[in-house]
Amino acid sequence: MPRPIRIKLVVGSPGRGKDTMKAIEIKKGVYWVGAIDRKIREFHGYKTHLGTTYNAYLVVDDRTALIDTVKEHLFDEMLERIKDVIDPKQIDLIISNHSEMDHSGSILKMLPHTPKASLLTSPNGESILEKHFGKIPALKKIDPASGTKLGKRTLNFALMPMVHWPDSMATYIPEEKLLLPNDAFGQHIASHERFDDELGWNIVREEAAKYYANIVMPYGTQVSKALDTLEGLDIDMIAPSHGVILRSHIKDMKAEYRKWSGNITEKKAVIVYETMWGSTEKMANEIRGAFEEKGIPVDMMDLVTDDISDVMTRILEAEYICVGSPTLNNNMMPKVSAFLTYLKGLALKNRKAMAFGSYGWGGQSVGQVEGILKECGFDMMESVKAQYVPDKEQLEGIRKKFEGHISGS
Ligand code: FEO
Repeated sequence: MPRPIRIKLVVGSPGRGKDTMKAIEIKKGVYWVGAIDRKIREFHGYKTHLGTTYNAYLVVDDRTALIDTVKEHLFDEMLERIKDVIDPKQIDLIISNHSEMDHSGSILKMLPHTPKASLLTSPNGESILEKHFGKIPALKKIDPASGTKLGKRTLNFALMPMVHWPDSMATYIPEEKLLLPNDAFGQHIASHERFDDELGWNIVREEAAKYYANIVMPYGTQVSKALDTLEGLDIDMIAPSHGVILRSHIKDMKAEYRKWSGNITEKKAVIVYETMWGSTEKMANEIRGAFEEKGIPVDMMDLVTDDISDVMTRILEAEYICVGSPTLNNNMMPKVSAFLTYLKGLALKNRKAMAFGSYGWGGQSVGQVEGILKECGFDMMESVKAQYVPDKEQLEGIRKKFEGHISGS
């Protein structure tokens, strides 16, 4: 597999061309009417260097359905795109596949424009939407076993709990071979391009990996079940709720999701560290040398310059995770502590890990890092410590000791 590209601070415009406020027809009578958020740089703790989109879709038939909405502050953008196709009064159904506010945030603003519309959601979605917004008279829950006929087309629903919230579901239109799975297969990319082949697989894959590693990762078991459900469906387009629509790389993306949800790793290592006076970094470089000696590629991630959401993207497929911190005030460094809290919450499985770090007198940090890596359930390798500044002999000792723990490629 080609080594993934690293994308750094491309300011919200991965491609060429211009955004328009027009709807985009993705299938005959099916339109993208979402919103492009080029300014967002943080999404609940995840650095969105490329911005994102909130994708809503309009299906025009004998009855017309709007599938999902957008973040509240971008409501006008969505409404303008809907008006590019129809008068919103003609909308009969609003489908809420997921009640997180990036998709449900415009529902209350939309309802006055759609006087005859029912708002349909999953049984869990009904409860969550009411807890967000209070009683909504138009709200009805779907029967997951039966679809809704629009005319020539049918909306079928598949519950996908925990991909990404308990309410998450996918809408499937069999006559169009079109799946609308909300967060699943999404990517945080703001671009005027709407399709995977317009933007290119490398960037789509990289951003889908980052999205999976930082948002979907804890729910691998549920993702595997959802993928099993999808196997039975005839699909030639997947239109997620963030980023571009998949039409050329459906098979590739499903294969990546199978791998990620199965915690299948490659012979790769990520060394994550923060250093104070350079000693922990010297140790990191020595450990790097041990991996490279065995032919194992390494990503070095310095938490002063690398964001934890980018670190997680690198860790997604790595067999080895090494975390280094010097001791500061009887503790690990604060950025390392924040990273480990984040890592633990994302519930990776099937990894080998070790702690390392330098110290002056107390030396508590390495034990603390090791403790959290153990709580993560990782298969632990022996930790290494060095006092003040490790000399050449100590560094060679670290490398030799560490080489013994690594099985080569
Ligand atoms: Fe894109 Fe879970 O919301």
